[in-house]
Amino acid sequence: MIGTDIAIDLGTYGIKIYVDGKGIVVNEPNVVAVRVENEEVIAIGSEAYAMLGRTSDRVKVIRPLVHGVISNFDLARYILDRYIRQVGGTRMVMPRVVVSLPCQITAVEQRAVVNAISSVGVRRVYSIPEPVAAAIGAGIDVCTPHGTLVIDIGGGTTDMGVISLGGLSISQSLKVAGLSFDDAIIRYVRRTYDLIIGERMAEDCKIAIGGVLDRPQPAVYRVKGRDANTGLPAFVDLQSSELIEPFLDPALEIVRVLQGMLEKTPPELLGDVYVDGIVMTGGTAQLYGLDQFISDKVKMPVHVAQDADICVTLGAGQSMKFIEDMDNKQYGVVNPLSEVY
Ligand SMILES: Nc1ncnc2c1ncn2[C@@H]1O[C@H](COP(=O)(O)OP(=O)(O)OP(=O)(O)O)[C@@H](O)[C@H]1O
Ligand SMILES: [Mg+2]
Repeated sequence: MIGTDIAIDLGTYGIKIYVDGKGIVVNEPNVVAVRVENEEVIAIGSEAYAMLGRTSDRVKVIRPLVHGVISNFDLARYILDRYIRQVGGTRMVMPRVVVSLPCQITAVEQRAVVNAISSVGVRRVYSIPEPVAAAIGAGIDVCTPHGTLVIDIGGGTTDMGVISLGGLSISQSLKVAGLSFDDAIIRYVRRTYDLIIGERMAEDCKIAIGGVLDRPQPAVYRVKGRDANTGLPAFVDLQSSELIEPFLDPALEIVRVLQGMLEKTPPELLGDVYVDGIVMTGGTAQLYGLDQFISDKVKMPVHVAQDADICVTLGAGQSMKFIEDMDNKQYGVVNPLSEVY
């Protein structure tokens, strides 16, 4: 094999790239800043993220993905091209790519991701469903006949599935995830304090004091924005306990879909899940109290995986070892990858 194999986790919130033998080498916000008049790209990743909410009539900041699927093909392609080149340098010879995909993506949406990657000059593309990648990244052997339930809560989507024998026995996806909790903060401070805040302020506040259960040590965070009545700068000192109520809606929505999936899970696999507990991954798995909240509702243990926010990327990276098995058409080997280009 000539060149370097890479794995790409193209998320709503972030783009992450894993290089064989090196690990994760790109972990950047999936945002692009463009000049309004001619759509010319002026910044990507963290540099563009720093402009979010601080733009003028000249510059806008765009997320090329919405709820896990590409909404702006040209910008998604642009950001992929830039980062793939960055990791490959001049030595990169048409790499083979594994891409993690949301489990309930349509054929057209999948095609868009594969086309965006292949147009960058990639030789072959393999896909892996996000919950399967997340399980591998969490250190689980997915190829055995044993059920594992993974729930990956990212920025724009929550993907969940029961994995056995390298594939999904059942899966569900919903458009509620980290950004929904940011929105809940924005709406809450507007409603309660007539204060208008931006999405970055909301996210910082969520990470600092947000949660779905009471903390042993209450915390306070100062959110700054604009008074909706006077138009003047204003701030409010938010208590961590205030956010529990606005967070109930998105948290319960995730639980509702999870319960629906559990009801349809084959009994043998459900038995395995009951013993092992649910594995939670994705950036939002780190939201304070969410594991306990879900565990209380479904009456099963829930564990947040180590390095939850990068499990999908690590798993997609580690699944590259299955490419050789696939190429050699090895008999009797369970393979979580599908060749898509
Ligand atoms: N410590 C934390 N507490 C709460 N939320 C967090 C924390 N760290 C990161 N997040 C949230 O995790 C989300 C990003 O997670 P992740 O990187 O898994 O998303 P993604 O893979 O880009 O999105 P998706 O899989 O939905 O397309 C963001 O909404 C971010 O605010
Ligand atoms: Mg993700």
